[in-house]
Parts: sequence; structure tokens; C-alpha cells
Amino acid sequence: MPTVEEVKTHDNEEDCWIIIHGKAYNVTDFLDEHPGGKDIILKYAGRDATKAFDVVHPRDMVDHLAEENHLGDVEGDMEAVAPDDADEEDEQTEEEIKRQELISLKPDLSKILNLFDFELVARQIMTNNGWAYYSSGADDEITLRENHLAYQQIFFRPRILINVSNVDLSTTMLGCPSKLPFYVTATALGKLGHADGEKILTRACGTSGIIQMIPTLASFSFDEIADEAIDGQNQWFQLYVNSDRKVTERIVRHAEERGIKGLFITVDAPALGRREKDMRSKFSSDQDSNVQKINEKESKQIDRNQGAARAISSFIDTSLNWEDIKWFQSITKMPIILKGVQRWEDAVRAAEIGCSGIVISNHGGRQLEFAPAPVEVLAEIEKFLIFVDGGIRRATDIMKALSLGCNGVGIGRPFLYAMSTYGQEGVEKAFDILRDELEMNMRLIGATKIDDLNESFVNIKGTGKRTIPNDYLFNSVYEPLGSSNFKPKL
Ligand SMILES: Cc1cc2nc3c(=O)[nH]c(=O)nc-3n(C[C@H](O)[C@H](O)[C@H](O)COP(=O)(O)O)c2cc1C
Repeated sequence: MPTVEEVKTHDNEEDCWIIIHGKAYNVTDFLDEHPGGKDIILKYAGRDATKAFDVVHPRDMVDHLAEENHLGDVEGDMEAVAPDDADEEDEQTEEEIKRQELISLKPDLSKILNLFDFELVARQIMTNNGWAYYSSGADDEITLRENHLAYQQIFFRPRILINVSNVDLSTTMLGCPSKLPFYVTATALGKLGHADGEKILTRACGTSGIIQMIPTLASFSFDEIADEAIDGQNQWFQLYVNSDRKVTERIVRHAEERGIKGLFITVDAPALGRREKDMRSKFSSDQDSNVQKINEKESKQIDRNQGAARAISSFIDTSLNWEDIKWFQSITKMPIILKGVQRWEDAVRAAEIGCSGIVISNHGGRQLEFAPAPVEVLAEIEKFLIFVDGGIRRATDIMKALSLGCNGVGIGRPFLYAMSTYGQEGVEKAFDILRDELEMNMRLIGATKIDDLNESFVNIKGTGKRTIPNDYLFNSVYEPLGSSNFKPKL
């Protein structure tokens, strides 16, 4: 059993121990693999990192460390270092003071009229790191923007003189009833936006009858999120396949035992996309840290991207292939859906090998740059259980996707922004906004229920053209990519 005094002596990059929830861990070998970079861990070397750890990670995240690095319960007391105290220079920067002021001045929720409004507020009041992580896309963010803009190449063919007094927006997805034809898709690291992270999304989905897809890389443990659901609330699970199949099998079986209604295996992330806004924000938050200064002295280069890419590929199985899907079918009775299909040939193959469905998705433009806009791929595929996500911001986007044959749509960032700015109430408001928009637009195109929607309602002749229209609201919240900064004068 290590003592507090012993832990204190392992306080550097070559030999780094930390305490989390009363237990000591040797994280020396993990430093280079930490997706958030090693600097943040080194701030807590030889110290109790519990408070900082809890801000972002689920409690059971430490279980992923190799067994020999679990050093056991710590003897003696040490106070956990508050994240702000770890590096006093991080405290109350001008930027932070301005952010706090903006938080107190943010618009009342009643003034939020559409999903872009949440994004605009989020951009002002989220921490730099949180905003950069949520908003970023791969490379030049062409795919990120196309995901949304492709919807604007589709126009409606409305019907008239239909009795639209009653509009029913409810539907069933994978056998789960849903009050509205969309679900909250899986997005990692909810605590970057709100201390209650994914739990906020669970609560809002519970009160509003919406399905939530729980991410593998949530900020809370799977059980903490599942426990937050109310009786009868339906949840799905997004799986990143671990190269250690025993770990994967345990996770899948546990999800099934907990009543998860669908297993969404992410197939578009055998490597991590380069998200430069995210990378830049990490570089700039490093600028004041003591570790950076030491490293500069030693002329060492910090390359976080390398660390992150290595980390994700060391955990996600890059060998995952079609043969493995059979294995999943042998260990679970949950319907299996492939999340991240990007061409019709793969949709056909998924159907042939007995998958229950697919999500046409490019990970919200965060993975392969120049992946096609999901709504265009949707137009290529017929007769399969299809979900689609990416760039959906308006009810009209949802209706276009449904008209083209999908069974429901996933929405990611807008709910993260609603959560980060107004908490549970914000997410519920985002659902309400979409409900109101859907109800009105269904009436205007002459449809009274989700099943009414079909290809006859859309004109897709304009799709596939790449002239980006002037979408004022979208452009006003879109944050252009930055460039390298010069060093400040000494
Ligand atoms: C911040 C963030 C984190 C994400 N994390 C994951 C993840 O852990 N696993 C996954 O399969 N997809 C992840 N995605 C992709 C989403 O599931 C979804 O495909 C995407 O957000 C849809 O695009 P939208 O944000 O434009 O709605 C993430 C997306 C964002 C924005």
C-alpha cells in the first residue's frame, strides 16, 4: 500500500504517480497516450488529481490502465488539488473574466428561437477547450459545412388541400417509440460543456420521450448514465470496438443486461481525424503552463496530435472488419447497427450479413475530410433500416431526410450547445423548437404523420452541386479555422 509521502516523490515526467479517489496510479507510460496531452497530467504529478479528473472523466475510466499500474489504496491523507490551483497562471485570465461576464449576460432562454441561437451563445460562453472540441471538424472543415449545406440543395414539393388539423409527429425507431423523429446521437466528453454532461441529455430525453445514444467515451460511466434514465426510457449504445475483445465483450453484454435497445458500432474511426481548432486550442492553453516552459528549455517539441492519434488507435481496434460483425452477432441479441456508412455498397453488405440497420454518417465531419454529405448518400440507398446524422439543424432538414427514406435522424452538436448554455431546460427547449418547426412544416407540405413522408415530397435535382449558398444564420455562427500565431514579444 503506497503512502502519501511515497506518492509525492513520483512527481515528474520520468516517474509519475497520481492519486484518484484514494487510489494511486503509475501513469508514466500513459503520459504520451493521454488524449488531452501529458501536460495536464503532469500538473498533478505526485499529487491528488481527483478533482481535475472528475471534471472530464467517468470514475471507471482508470480501469483502462494496465493492471500493473494500479498501485492500490493510499495510506494517509492528501487534499485533492482543485483544477484552478494546479496552475495559478490559469486563473482569472482576462479571457476568463470576460467569459464569466458573458455568462451573466446571456439571452433568456425564451429569446432562443432556433438551434443556431444556442450555438451562438455557446461560442461566447463555453471554455475555449470545450468549444474547440465540440465545434471542430477534420482538416479544412469542408465536409463539416457540406453536411449542413447539402440540405439546402433539396426543395419541397408540397401537397395542398389536405386536412392537416391533427399532425402526429411520433414514430418508432428500432422498435422504440419516440415522440419525435430524431434521437440524441452519441457525442463524447459531455463534461466539457456542463458539469452534469451526458446526464443532462438523459434527463431531457426522459422528460421529452426522445431516445439517447450513450457514447463509449462519455464523461460519466455507462452505469451512471443508464441509472439516470426513468422507467421505460429507451437508450441505445454507441460502441468503439476495443482491440481487447474481452473488454468489448464485457461492455456489450453489460449494455444488453441493462436493457439497451440497440448496439451502434462506430465504423468510421479507425484513426482520429485531424481537428485543427481542437489542436490549436490545446496548444494555446499550454502556453502558460510550467511544463511548457521546462520543455522549451530542453528544446523538446510538444505534439499533442500525435499523442491523441496514438491514444485513440491504441484503444480502438484498427483491424475491425466485416468478419468481426459475425462475432458481435454471436455475443448479443441487441440489434446491431453500423454507424458511419458512407456509400451504398456498404449499406447493401450490411443488410446481407444481417445487420439491423445503418447510420449514414461521417461523424459530423470530424473524420474523413471530403466524405460525402450524408443526405446525398441517403438518396442512393433504398429499403433498409436507415438513420442519418450530420448537419441537421432545422425541422425541414429532418423532413427531407425522412422523405428520402430514412427512419429517423441523429442530431449531435446542437444538443451539446443547448446543454452547455442552458442545461436540461436548454435541451428540452431545443426539442420543443424542433417540434414546433416540424408541426408547422408538416402542415405546410400537406403531411399529417411521419409515415406520410416519401420521395414525392422532395425535389433532389439540385443535389451534388458544390456552390455553397449564402446561408446567413449558418455562416454567422460558423467559426472560421484559425492560423498559427506568432510568439509574443519578450
Ligand atoms: C463533440 C462530438 C463528439 C463526438 N463523439 C463521438 C463518439 O464518441 N462516437 C461516435 O460514434 N460519434 C461521435 N460523434 C459524432 C456524432 O455521433 C454524430 O455523428 C455527429 O455529431 C452528427 O453531426 P452533427 O453534430 O452535425 O449533428 C461526435 C460528434 C461531436 C460533435
